[in-house]
Amino acid sequence: MRLVLVGPPGAGKGTQAEFIAAHFAVPKISTGDIFRANVAAGTPLGVEARRFMDSGQLVPDEVTINMVRDRLAEPDAADGFLLDGFPRTVPQAIAHDKLLADLGVGLDVVLELIVDDDEVIRRLSGRWTCRGCGKIWHIEFDPPTHDGVCDRCGSQLYQRDDDKAETVAERLKVYVRDTAPLIIFYGAQGKLVGIDATGPVEDVTVRAIDALRSYGG
Ligand code: AP5
Ligand code: MG
Ligand code: ZN
Repeated sequence: MRLVLVGPPGAGKGTQAEFIAAHFAVPKISTGDIFRANVAAGTPLGVEARRFMDSGQLVPDEVTINMVRDRLAEPDAADGFLLDGFPRTVPQAIAHDKLLADLGVGLDVVLELIVDDDEVIRRLSGRWTCRGCGKIWHIEFDPPTHDGVCDRCGSQLYQRDDDKAETVAERLKVYVRDTAPLIIFYGAQGKLVGIDATGPVEDVTVRAIDALRSYGG
């Protein structure tokens, strides 16, 4: 299956991506995670990306598209993938369609996670992420047993730099301006499926897998 997850910051893309990718046995490719790994490693790509990420802006399309092109060329993505956080602009979506067409394949489905702005703010203000395994926690909705420590791998948890209230507000603005047009873009292609992404994480996963079932695996 070739699948894209779309939704505002904090919709639960990263949380659900892990379960959905495992269910359909495809690699999860998150552009946000790849950028953050490059920032942490201090690579030239990370230095470039950080200038935009810290203020809640998007990394330029050209940089992002080149990065995804390289990632999709890796062998594990040959038979399918789940993209989390890409495409994020209409030019990225057009470039992605072209990239797949050049490989003689196409996107199967785009899953939209629907949540409102208040819920986004509640979710992002309580998010803690594991430095070791990447597992995403929430101080209230999905708390670890011990504050600041990952139950799964024992590593330290951290709060993302871009989860500050003012940066979240900017990311929401950018979402409406640059990313929400993808809903119309993929709707016109007949590829869009939307689900209610509120309620317990497990319930959202069930809704997502149900909605995707007819697209095979
Ligand atoms: P990115 O990392 O993609 O951030 P985002 O889109 O803002 O999304 P988030 O990761 O903040 O939220 P999420 O939807 O994954 O939610 P999560 O599962 O963590 O991008 C970061 C930056 O990188 C961008 O701003 C940009 O600069 C750059 N970038 C990335 N891709 C780019 C691209 N294609 N083009 C250009 N620039 C790009 O959940 C959030 C919290 O809610 C967690 O604490 C979780 O535990 C909790 N939660 C999840 N589900 C539930 C639930 N059902 N109930 C209660 N709590 C829940
Ligand atoms: Mg995420
Ligand atoms: Zn961990």
